[in-house]
Amino acid sequence: MQKLRAFAESLATGAGSILREHHGKRHHIEYKGEIDLVTEVDRAAEAYMRARIAETYPDHEILGEEEGLKTSGSAYRWLLDPVDGTTNYAHGFPYYCVSVGLEHEGRVIVGAVYNPMLDELFSAALGEGATLNGAPIAVSETTELRRSLLTTGFPYHVIQEGSNLPLFIRFLYRCQAVRRAGSAALDLCHVACGRYDGFWEPGLSAWDVAAGAIIVQEAGGRMSDYQGKPFDPYAKELLASNGLLHAAMMAVINEQVPD
Ligand code: IPD
Ligand code: CA
Ligand code: CA
Repeated sequence: MQKLRAFAESLATGAGSILREHHGKRHHIEYKGEIDLVTEVDRAAEAYMRARIAETYPDHEILGEEEGLKTSGSAYRWLLDPVDGTTNYAHGFPYYCVSVGLEHEGRVIVGAVYNPMLDELFSAALGEGATLNGAPIAVSETTELRRSLLTTGFPYHVIQEGSNLPLFIRFLYRCQAVRRAGSAALDLCHVACGRYDGFWEPGLSAWDVAAGAIIVQEAGGRMSDYQGKPFDPYAKELLASNGLLHAAMMAVINEQVPD
């Protein structure tokens, strides 16, 4: 486990230096959808991580945002988001990261998330706790929604799938503040180290959330879907909290009110 965690960390920091090197430069932007974009740096950082995995663990499966799934029948699967926060990255807005998760037999066992702008490396392994630059981290102790700082995000098809707006408004009225900074993996890490108290978002993918989820759980937080079902990286909606606010957040999400 130690070896896999160290390897995940080195993938995240190695890819992160590619991001840092090209930060703020003019990027070649391609559109995967009307709004969903990809830069040459997303592709280069994913290619770098795939090459390193192929060298060290040639039989492992890989699911990456830009190149899709490489199957092999192995019990191990790497979940890679080379740039989580691509819209920010393309604009030179310094809030993005590299996210690296590792699944074994369908369970996330290792996660590493690197923010190259702040040189912050979050990581965790199952049963071994979560760290930020090597020091143990823990979720916040906030017990009242009214005092909480929450974060969320919106899917790219925000207009067509605008279902998160009613929740955004509901939480805005009930907590101290809601942020929408544009990187789900970093948002989760900030829940893990107590900077945020909770996070919710619909429509995320396994590469966005796998690493951040194990980091939250190992830091003492709770991860579930909107109904409280245990975390599944392939689920369509995600709720993360310091644990203490989980029931209150779930109650707000599931309120039967006309929006
Ligand atoms: C996006 C970010 C964003 C979230 C979007 C994701 P990307 O990932 O995590 O915060 O709101 O739903 O797709 O495209 O920048 O890797
Ligand atoms: Ca992402
Ligand atoms: Ca991405």
